[in-house]
Amino acid sequence: MPKNIILDCDPGHDDAIAIFLAAGHPALNIKAITTVSGNASIQHTTRNALIIAEMAELTQVPVAQGAEEPLVRKPKTAPHIHGESGLEGPELQEPTKQQESLHAIDLMADLLDHPEEPLTLVPTGPLTNIAWLLKRAPHVKKNIKEIVLMGGGSFGNWTPAAEFNIYADPEAAHVVFESGLPLTMAGLDLTHQAMAAEKEKEWLRHADTKAASFTAELLDYFTATYKELFGFPGAPIHDACAVAYCIDDRVFSTTHLPVTVETAGTYTTGMTVIDYLQTTGKAPNVNVAGQLNHSMFWTMLTDALERLP
Ligand code: BDR
Ligand code: CA
Repeated sequence: MPKNIILDCDPGHDDAIAIFLAAGHPALNIKAITTVSGNASIQHTTRNALIIAEMAELTQVPVAQGAEEPLVRKPKTAPHIHGESGLEGPELQEPTKQQESLHAIDLMADLLDHPEEPLTLVPTGPLTNIAWLLKRAPHVKKNIKEIVLMGGGSFGNWTPAAEFNIYADPEAAHVVFESGLPLTMAGLDLTHQAMAAEKEKEWLRHADTKAASFTAELLDYFTATYKELFGFPGAPIHDACAVAYCIDDRVFSTTHLPVTVETAGTYTTGMTVIDYLQTTGKAPNVNVAGQLNHSMFWTMLTDALERLP
């Protein structure tokens, strides 16, 4: 039986690849794609989600637009990483697929009200929508199997301490991390191991699906920004790691640890403070990702891309 998931995302090059992975893998059934402001404005991330859903032929999957700004802060976008549209690089077709008239939070609440079985939430952008959901519809918490998110880690990429998704809305992240729900955090320590370099891109260029060649073009752009900004030899496919874990949790190791989101630090706002040595006495609340099985990850992705149009 495929696992039912809701993808909450801000496409975003790696979010787009995460959608392809979920769409192309038989172990998952996408119940909805919801969007949040993050890498780009909410209008851009929603349009991008529609484009990718259409490419993956997710005709039955609703795409709903969510929060246009963080809970209390001003929106932060990442045009220097993803371009102004959030998905610079490949040529984008105007989507014919329409977004739902329901707000993302209402759609999630509806789907979680009486699901056939509990759903897994997979947020790969700022956690604004998920925090709103937990605040506005706390009764649906019992129907959330787990949350597997991309964000955080023991170092930052937006500040020395903070990763973008958590930094963009630390108050929302605090709500989610303290929710008591089973939570797995695919942070930067893990996702930087999910690097696509020249060899991987070469495979994608020669694969015979449109999704694979589009992914190669996404990665060309993403690699160039990561090279320029961080001197990396390739692009980390951050967000696809969270989806890969939903497919098979052996794809990376985890350790159950206490984690607190910093919301007030002078230099550390948005940091996920991981209590590795359990010095705080706080009960472990997060499965913190460790070691990636790169070949397993890559096989999942290539298999999925080969199954798509
Ligand atoms: C995260 O931020 C965005 O740039 C990516 O889509 C990913 O979700 C990595 O820090
Ligand atoms: Ca993202």
